[in-house]
Amino acid sequence: MTPPNAVVDDQAGDTAGSGVGTAAASETAATPTPFQRPLPRTIAIANQKGGVGKTTTAVNLGACLAELGYRTLVVDLDPQGNATTGLGINIRDLQASMYDVILNDLPIEDCIEATAVRNLFCAPAALDLAGAEIELVPAFSREMRLRRALDSVRDDYDYVLIDCPPSLGLLTVNGLAAASEVLVPIQCEYYALEGLGQLLRNVQLVQRNLNPRLELSAMVLVMYDARTKLADQVVQEVRDHFGEKVCNSIVPRTVRLSEAPSFGQPIITFDPTSRGSIAYRSLALEVSGGAAQRAG
Ligand SMILES: Nc1ncnc2c1ncn2[C@@H]1O[C@H](COP(=O)(O)OP(=O)(O)O)[C@@H](O)[C@H]1O
Ligand SMILES: [Mg+2]
Repeated sequence: MTPPNAVVDDQAGDTAGSGVGTAAASETAATPTPFQRPLPRTIAIANQKGGVGKTTTAVNLGACLAELGYRTLVVDLDPQGNATTGLGINIRDLQASMYDVILNDLPIEDCIEATAVRNLFCAPAALDLAGAEIELVPAFSREMRLRRALDSVRDDYDYVLIDCPPSLGLLTVNGLAAASEVLVPIQCEYYALEGLGQLLRNVQLVQRNLNPRLELSAMVLVMYDARTKLADQVVQEVRDHFGEKVCNSIVPRTVRLSEAPSFGQPIITFDPTSRGSIAYRSLALEVSGGAAQRAG
């Protein structure tokens, strides 16, 4: 089996060769890809399994889209707040968070924080959001809270990425109802496909009942370890199953990607030439198709 071209050789150290500079959108020839859609785009990053790379993908795809010049908002919908801290925001300093937006109708612009990366913003979450899952149950239009909240800022961003929690509860339903696309990270490990049927059924349920324009747009293979045969088998299996929905860019398993969050940095600032940086830059180009930003 030929390794996928987007995976940089795994045996060398973590730093890839030269030639990796900051990829400004203007320098990048626009190459339409199957993943390109008109801007603005709202993409829910979902998979009810924990630890499959949702947050890592939200943070790093977000940072790479911002680097390409797109105004990008990462909405943290996980009470763990990992996207929030991974973007360098101290949860203890927060005046407001997604809890207030979802439960108390706080305008989302009142909780959005800038990050150290130009063009990249975060709507933060903290542990209190865990209560939302229960408090929302009796609430009026409980599935549409996030969608309503985003309506007022959607035109301010080219990309809104929603980092969903590891469940299929009301918070994830809010994420799916607010999005036009779902991006699913899939770990290149045994049981990778387990649970995906349930996720796809939920996406269909949301499509039918809440959000007809929702589309499963992309599957992203992550945590690829070139040293295991199994990883290639999983890649093949996912491609056989989902065909053109699977992105060519594959994110390797690298220690640097797992270290970056504890420094509150996306990989492209933490280690700009690492394999993780290269992979997420490649993914950002693929997802955006190098599409021009909206005018104005
Ligand atoms: N490509 C990768 N290589 C190495 N570690 C990774 C990679 N992607 C994610 N991780 C680590 O795996 C753990 C789970 O990832 P995370 O993105 O938090 O998953 P989720 O949001 O789906 O729960 C985290 O500790 C993260 O740093
Ligand atoms: Mg997460």
